[in-house]
Amino acid sequence: MNQDFLAQWQQLKKLACDESVKDLQALFSQSHNRATSLSFEVEDVFVDFSKNWITPEILSSLIKLANASQLAKKITHLFTGHNINVTENKPATHTLQRQTNPPVQMINDRNKMFKVAQNYSSGKWLTAFGKRVETVVNIGIGGSYLGPKIAIQALTDLQMKSKVKVLYFASIDDVRLKSIVNTTDIERTLFCVSSKSLGTIETLKNAHAIKALLVKKKNYQPTQNNQSFVVATANEPKAEQFGVPKSHVLPFDNATGGRFSVWSSIGFPLLMAIGEKAFLSFLAGAEKMDKHFKETNFAQNIPVLMAMLSIWYRNFMQLTAYAVIPYDANLKHLPAWLQQLMMESNGKMHDVNGEEVSVSTSPWLFGDHGQLSQHAFFQAFHQSKDVLPIDFIGVLGPQTEAKKYLLINMLAQSAALMNGSDDDEKQFNCPGNRPSTTILLKELTPSSLGQLLSMYEHMIYVQSVIWNINCFDQPGVELGKSIARNIVEHIQDDTLEEVHLDKSTQQLLAKVLEHE
Ligand code: F6P
Repeated sequence: MNQDFLAQWQQLKKLACDESVKDLQALFSQSHNRATSLSFEVEDVFVDFSKNWITPEILSSLIKLANASQLAKKITHLFTGHNINVTENKPATHTLQRQTNPPVQMINDRNKMFKVAQNYSSGKWLTAFGKRVETVVNIGIGGSYLGPKIAIQALTDLQMKSKVKVLYFASIDDVRLKSIVNTTDIERTLFCVSSKSLGTIETLKNAHAIKALLVKKKNYQPTQNNQSFVVATANEPKAEQFGVPKSHVLPFDNATGGRFSVWSSIGFPLLMAIGEKAFLSFLAGAEKMDKHFKETNFAQNIPVLMAMLSIWYRNFMQLTAYAVIPYDANLKHLPAWLQQLMMESNGKMHDVNGEEVSVSTSPWLFGDHGQLSQHAFFQAFHQSKDVLPIDFIGVLGPQTEAKKYLLINMLAQSAALMNGSDDDEKQFNCPGNRPSTTILLKELTPSSLGQLLSMYEHMIYVQSVIWNINCFDQPGVELGKSIARNIVEHIQDDTLEEVHLDKSTQQLLAKVLEHE
């Protein structure tokens, strides 16, 4: 790290020693325009940072830290195809996926996906049973599941208008398999095998389990066009091995990360659910946020401010957790999507040079729909001895009584967390001064959803720049998978004794095998 960066880091450490920054009410009384001066708006997204432990001095130091990390250059690198995914020696192309005019190969991939969706939606192509598609089952996990899931749930109104409903088959799960088969007309179902690598064991097993069921049926007669499977992947050759014709393979660029892939053909189930126009608007929304991120100075740049604030809490206030609480049922899958995005991207201890990072990286992120969380874990938010920053997310319109009620509850919670209460009986006391950010969307539309997801993607990228880590790989998740593969292979060869396992795992494995 350069001297300037270290100097800014030291300066922030000094500022963090001043406990008065945690007195939110005092901060508000010191500055009458605090709420407005710390709120920013871009397109459909309004963000109020004023209930946070920040002062103009802290913000300015955080921005200096961002400058010292060469963030401007790194943002340019993201958008100009530099090999920023250093361990895999490739760029990160998720922002290209949503460009109005992406490179030729991407536009071809997008057009192919649109064509396939049109063919199925219009009934020109049928399933391998000669029937029209009514249901799409997404067979995929991680980013190949969470991306479509958050987006389809968020756009439920549009999905309800379309004729296609979407189900998910993510984990290996006999019960889920049975429930899909028993509750869905599988002859009218299109199975979308969604896997960037086509090497993910869960997805392959689930896809083969479904295929085994389908081929047993006498009237399963795939033709060149009528197929019950499409495959969305960056590994085209392997897709053909799965036995679908090339026309049903939906390729996407290999440099688009799995958890950043909803904009690519991994979004096929979303496209089937909401249609082409809305899907394009989803991409355009994300592109608007990209433009804001690229072109706005850091002091007004929403993703940059969100990231720098999270750095402040994680590294200078030593807060280990981070909560994301949408007060809208249609955003209930946002925390799970963001959990993968943040923790798989930045939950790392090595920097881009392979050196150990000297500070903490990704916070532990969790969350749920606000109304449900309020009656579950908010007690700890208000009175636990530990504090965590919270993102509250509300949707303003179109306003109904129910929506208004939810929004008022959200505001009441953030106000209560900040202002606390002073009761004679100590156990009823809420200490207050608990920080939060409130994000308001004008409406939940394809465009505003695109803006929101893109905002968080860029926040995560900025965090990674400050920590100097590669947010586009996930080496940590490989270890457990390879141990599992090794055990399975040795069980098959009857050579389990060759596997070196600790005593606890040996004992537990013996229990598992006893039940075979
Ligand atoms: O195991 C983690 C992971 O590699 C994620 O990064 C990814 O989103 C998920 O598995 C699924 O991968 P794929 O799309 O290649 O099946």
